[in-house]
Amino acid sequence: MDYSKFFSADVPSFLRSPVREIFRKVDLGAICSFAGGYPAAVTFPVEDIKRLSGEVLEKYGTKALQYGATQGVPELRQVIASRYGVPVSQVQITTSSQQGIDVCTRVLANPGDIILANNPVYLGALQSFRAYRAQVLPIQSVIAGPDRQSSVKFIYVIPDFNNPSGETMTLAEREEIVRVARELDCLIVEDSPYRELRYSGKPVKTIRELAPERTLHLGSFSKIFAPGFRLGWIIGPEELLEQIYICKQCLDLCPPVFDQYMAAEFMGSGALDRNLEKTIVEYRRRRDLMVSLLEKYMPEGVRWTYPEGGLFLWLTLPEGIDTVALYDEALAAGVAYVAGSFFYTDGSHRNTMRLNFSFIDESKMEPGIRLLTGVICNSLNSR
Ligand SMILES: Cc1ncc(COP(=O)(O)O)c(C=O)c1O
Repeated sequence: MDYSKFFSADVPSFLRSPVREIFRKVDLGAICSFAGGYPAAVTFPVEDIKRLSGEVLEKYGTKALQYGATQGVPELRQVIASRYGVPVSQVQITTSSQQGIDVCTRVLANPGDIILANNPVYLGALQSFRAYRAQVLPIQSVIAGPDRQSSVKFIYVIPDFNNPSGETMTLAEREEIVRVARELDCLIVEDSPYRELRYSGKPVKTIRELAPERTLHLGSFSKIFAPGFRLGWIIGPEELLEQIYICKQCLDLCPPVFDQYMAAEFMGSGALDRNLEKTIVEYRRRRDLMVSLLEKYMPEGVRWTYPEGGLFLWLTLPEGIDTVALYDEALAAGVAYVAGSFFYTDGSHRNTMRLNFSFIDESKMEPGIRLLTGVICNSLNSR
């Protein structure tokens, strides 16, 4: 049967994630994988979770298993509001920050509307933007050129430890984003799942702090608690959250209630901060190890970003090396990465790649970088 006639007009715009395709193709546990963006399992607070699950049932009883408010349970909204110094009315809980991106796009963008984003851009965001048939243009072109766009709905940025590039925006760059947004009279979606994972350098003000009136700030429990809970939040102006709240009713009625109580107790009791301290030590060590291995092994002409936090760094290889074409060779050699061009809206920058340092077993990091170096050197020598 031909099912294609049943699909909506949105379906051809759906973008399949190349990262998830990689997961389907190979057993990443069997090779040295720098491909995914998973947190390290050792950072999951398993003992806290065991203890808290009993405590949550004791404290909240069957309420913890019931449907809850669409905005999220008051206890979690309150804990987030206190942590980030905003009124509870400006906090909406989401069922993951991916849902946060999707619901913001759904509420704000019509087909054909322009969203300005960093280039390279987070793939999950690109998937949502495409699904609603918005046009995605690089923010850099607008900042650099005279080309001022009129139908821009919002600017999407990851100011802290960008996925995929690992870079952090300076205060001046953030102020520039705000200036452009005010000039274009558009909103800003500030995606911030890594902000709490800083290993060096000093925190920079969030864009929300610079322009609270036009920013929707997205947070996530995935990297500071556990991604299996699928919990995130949006902080933003009440009038915007009101529409998001209505839209969310049809998405999932409410975020998972038991999980929200767990997150509220975890964050509110101080257990999150204690776990975060250990997580930061763990990831700082992994980042430093990866950077030192790159310095030790990579041939001349290969450059990389130095992430002050987050889970990724970004490699730029000499012009002419094609990381998409090289990928099968790398897999056959036993190492995986994500080709950088997948994160570009126009598929350009084929000489780049994203490397993740959080998930791989530390004992595999050196063999992995050596294998990757071998694949890159082969390609350089055969030019
Ligand atoms: C920039 C960015 N935003 C959002 C997400 C989605 O996170 P969540 O697990 O909260 O959906 C990710 C996940 O990797 C991410 O890198």
